[in-house]
Amino acid sequence: MTVRVGFLGAGLIATFHSKMLRASGEDVAWAGVWDPDADRRARFAAASGATACDSEEAVLDGCDAVYVCTWTSEHPRLVEAACARGLAVFCEKPLGVDHSTALAMTERVEAAGVIDQVGLVLRYSPAFNLVRDLVADPASGRVMSVVFRDDQFIPVQGSYASTWRGDRTKAGSGTLLEHSIHDLDILEHCVGTVASLSSRSANFHGLDGIEDSVATTLSFTGGGVGVMTSVWHDILERPSLRRVEVFCERLYVVVEEDDWFGPVSWTRVGRPDQQLAGEELVDEVRHRGLDFGNPDGAFVRAVRDGQPAWPRFRDALRAHELVDAVYRSAAAEGRPVTVEPGATGA
Ligand SMILES: NC(=O)c1ccc[n+]([C@@H]2O[C@H](COP(=O)([O-])OP(=O)(O)OC[C@H]3O[C@@H](n4cnc5c(N)ncnc54)[C@H](O)[C@@H]3O)[C@@H](O)[C@H]2O)c1
Repeated sequence: MTVRVGFLGAGLIATFHSKMLRASGEDVAWAGVWDPDADRRARFAAASGATACDSEEAVLDGCDAVYVCTWTSEHPRLVEAACARGLAVFCEKPLGVDHSTALAMTERVEAAGVIDQVGLVLRYSPAFNLVRDLVADPASGRVMSVVFRDDQFIPVQGSYASTWRGDRTKAGSGTLLEHSIHDLDILEHCVGTVASLSSRSANFHGLDGIEDSVATTLSFTGGGVGVMTSVWHDILERPSLRRVEVFCERLYVVVEEDDWFGPVSWTRVGRPDQQLAGEELVDEVRHRGLDFGNPDGAFVRAVRDGQPAWPRFRDALRAHELVDAVYRSAAAEGRPVTVEPGATGA
């Protein structure tokens, strides 16, 4: 079955998904695209072969599955429109501008019974899949400590060229929700369930409601602790970068430079240091039988086969719970906040 895919929003991430669909080699037909920005709509249509539509309804009427790739505040309304038509939906992260919106969206897709996937794409990263596997190995012992740093130039400039990320009514808030929701998701996916946290935040750019520096200490249910730093600076020379170190009782592992292709370096007791990057990393992850690769190929296969996609809105809801806990702690000058264990599928 050819899956007809529609796009709402024709910006940076819609273009990414369109390219990933092409690279997946799956049987996909580019149906309609709608973006109120006529230039973007036309450019996307020309590059992908999609039909430039004159309304969101025209896109929804002509597809089996729809990508919601608009700025964040538009996600709930468009997800609702997809659910009302029984369409499979891929919604970008964050689901909505806050936790209560994300909860309502999750309940809506589940009630509608549509296939749902969220853009927490790092779950498909070869580098983080290897970290997850190394940490889960009983020979590694328990997780003791994590150091997670995520930095990016504030994306109201440079290659992102977005203004909406500086507008709280469209973005919800700043670096934590817009960017580091990925980090909290990956921390739980690779390291363990968060039990409590304490956070401080700052706002250097003076954009109302758009925090640009957040520091969080975390306790995990397994007894380990960690620190997470999320910062939006003005150093356009630096691409978006993550550096993640995990210390277990008998394993040290670090991801540097590229959160997809590594390098991933690790040290085990009594063994030589190891490092893998690029194709070698991909080969190792494949050899270990891990679930990595192309999130868009996985989505259209799920639609074709009528099977659940992954990660789902409910997985993102857990990340929204953690984001909400960080904001509550920061608003209370770092008061510790307990997080209920992941009842939501983390
Ligand atoms: N998963 C990831 O790693 C990742 C990366 C970047 C962005 N995102 C998320 O994707 C979403 C879009 O980000 P982006 O970088 O592509 O932004 P962007 O500014 O490049 O594109 C957003 C587009 O949405 C359009 N739009 C607004 N309202 C619309 C509507 N009702 N219907 C159709 N189009 C509409 C805008 O005109 C704009 O062209 C955001 O929620 C963002 O957080 C996720």
